[in-house]
Amino acid sequence: MPRVLALPGDGIGPEVMAEALEVLARVAPDVESERALIGGAAIDATGEPLPPDTLDRARECGVVLLGAVGGPRWDGQPQDKKPEAGLLGIRKALGLYANLRPATVVPALAASSPLRPEGVRGVDLVVVRELTGGLYYGQPRGRFESEGEAAARNTMVYRESEVRRIARVGFETAARRRGRLTNVHKANVLEVCAFWNEIVEDEARDHPGVSLDHQLVDSMAMVLLRDAAEFDTILCPNLFGDILSDEAAMLTGSLGMLPSASLGEAGRGLFEPVHGSAPDIAGRDRANPLAMILSVAMLLEHALERPEPAARVRAAVDRVLEAGHRTPDLATSGEDPVGTRAMGRLVREALA
Ligand code: IPM
Ligand code: MG
Repeated sequence: MPRVLALPGDGIGPEVMAEALEVLARVAPDVESERALIGGAAIDATGEPLPPDTLDRARECGVVLLGAVGGPRWDGQPQDKKPEAGLLGIRKALGLYANLRPATVVPALAASSPLRPEGVRGVDLVVVRELTGGLYYGQPRGRFESEGEAAARNTMVYRESEVRRIARVGFETAARRRGRLTNVHKANVLEVCAFWNEIVEDEARDHPGVSLDHQLVDSMAMVLLRDAAEFDTILCPNLFGDILSDEAAMLTGSLGMLPSASLGEAGRGLFEPVHGSAPDIAGRDRANPLAMILSVAMLLEHALERPEPAARVRAAVDRVLEAGHRTPDLATSGEDPVGTRAMGRLVREALA
């Protein structure tokens, strides 16, 4: 029997997780879900953002559903004891190097985007973000002394094999879609990006069916707003992917809509919304559970290889939006928003 480890985490994490697990139970009743602690919740209970028990069970299950981590309560913690360290730790420990963040503008939500509806019509892209290397993990890092005064540093470093494997995921993803890969870099300044680009160019020879182009990250931030519908698959190092995926999310109307899949070697995966723990609205039945519910669809598709229930979940979300239901983040003026629980229930009803 397939097992899924649910890590609700902090802030709105537990609220959106509860809705998502009910959806999962509906469409895949044979899947067993169990819970464990991560992030601030784990720090409060055990002193560690990623307790060994959580990691052991994540390794056993191989498939993880995660809510969100972090909050102002833990701001004072040292870097390696912050809630975020739990998330970075589990990504690294499970070898989840490929993060897929699809962003599509559904017609029903075009009015929720901060951009003009004609500017976002037809947007259907995916950010392929490298997730276990680059500036997030490079050594040396931290505070040190330089020329007699305090200093701090992080290091952006990539090994050839790390670039090659994520580039392949980028090309393979593009090949299954519209065949266009946009590689994001800052090679005019950073040697690590020039190196990354050479390897991407080299991999392009093995993928003649995919057309490759390159964009400087600053210019990418601009053209993504101007011509979002032009993009298909966007390949990014870790930090650039973090930034551009939030931007891509906003095109769709709300960060509360975007799911993600973090994949490693066969069968392993962690599925989480792109949004954070939103402590300002936690516990108030205001969070949008759709990104978390759509993360269940990605789990069904990528980890359990069940495309049929995955499609059912997505269709149910579309139907609820088409019927005009909106959580507060999506509601435009004059629309009466529904809460987290009601939105979850509407999706479950639409599954029937
Ligand atoms: C994300 C988040 C995380 C990241 C944080 C919470 C560590 O912003 O998944 O995009 O930077 O990767
Ligand atoms: Mg982010």
